[in-house]
Amino acid sequence: MTIMDAIAERHSVRAFTPRSLDFETWDALDSYIREINEESRLSFKLVTDDPQAFDSVLAKYGHFENVRNFIICAGPKGPDLDERIGYFGEAIVLKAQMLGLNTCWVGLTFSKSSVRRMLKSGERLVCVIAVGYGLSQGASHPVKSESELSTVRGEAPEWFAQGMWAATLAPTALNQQRWHITYENGTCKLTTAPGPYTGLDLGIVRKHFEIGAANAGQQRIAWL
Ligand SMILES: Cc1cc2nc3c(=O)[nH]c(=O)nc-3n(C[C@H](O)[C@H](O)[C@H](O)COP(=O)(O)O)c2cc1C
Repeated sequence: MTIMDAIAERHSVRAFTPRSLDFETWDALDSYIREINEESRLSFKLVTDDPQAFDSVLAKYGHFENVRNFIICAGPKGPDLDERIGYFGEAIVLKAQMLGLNTCWVGLTFSKSSVRRMLKSGERLVCVIAVGYGLSQGASHPVKSESELSTVRGEAPEWFAQGMWAATLAPTALNQQRWHITYENGTCKLTTAPGPYTGLDLGIVRKHFEIGAANAGQQRIAWL
């Protein structure tokens, strides 16, 4: 599976089989998380066979079932922490999809107190990502059109269209898609209307856009 396939096929999955991660799969995901931590200086951590964080009333209310593995998303306090967690965390989500796993970003419906106990001092918990073998592959949801989500001043190159295709499929909290990308003279500007978890959403969308554009040969985006 290519990363573009992973973007097309990923949907949030909230109900999992009780199966533990295969050793090879665990190893590949855990190694990738270590690489991402090295690059980002963030603290993502894969926790396996631990149902506690999703044993709460809140998790049940969120319709989560059998979540036994999850990735803690944490890092040092700072103004751009949420966006950086979104950006690097989505790389992990897509890697998990390529390894045959299913995921769901979870900002609210899990037990924060039980996860906070697993943090080192100086780390701030942002959210978690549930991961495992889904009972299903999830379902697609209506997404806004590329023209609603972008403004093009002048004429945009092909990589912009591919970036936008990938960005429209980026998960956002409550499927809110409050973001907007403006293209002008080879540069892109990503903005968002206010709302819950929009910092995380921005990072996730930026990651998808960059992957789509890179697939069309544009390796670096001049973000304003
Ligand atoms: C930052 C973020 C936080 C989320 N928090 C929750 C959550 O607390 N509970 C939940 O059930 N889903 C949560 N989701 C999943 C979204 O509802 C889901 O991504 C969105 O509806 C789009 O669906 P899709 O991921 O299948 O494309 C979250 C997603 C994101 C990106």
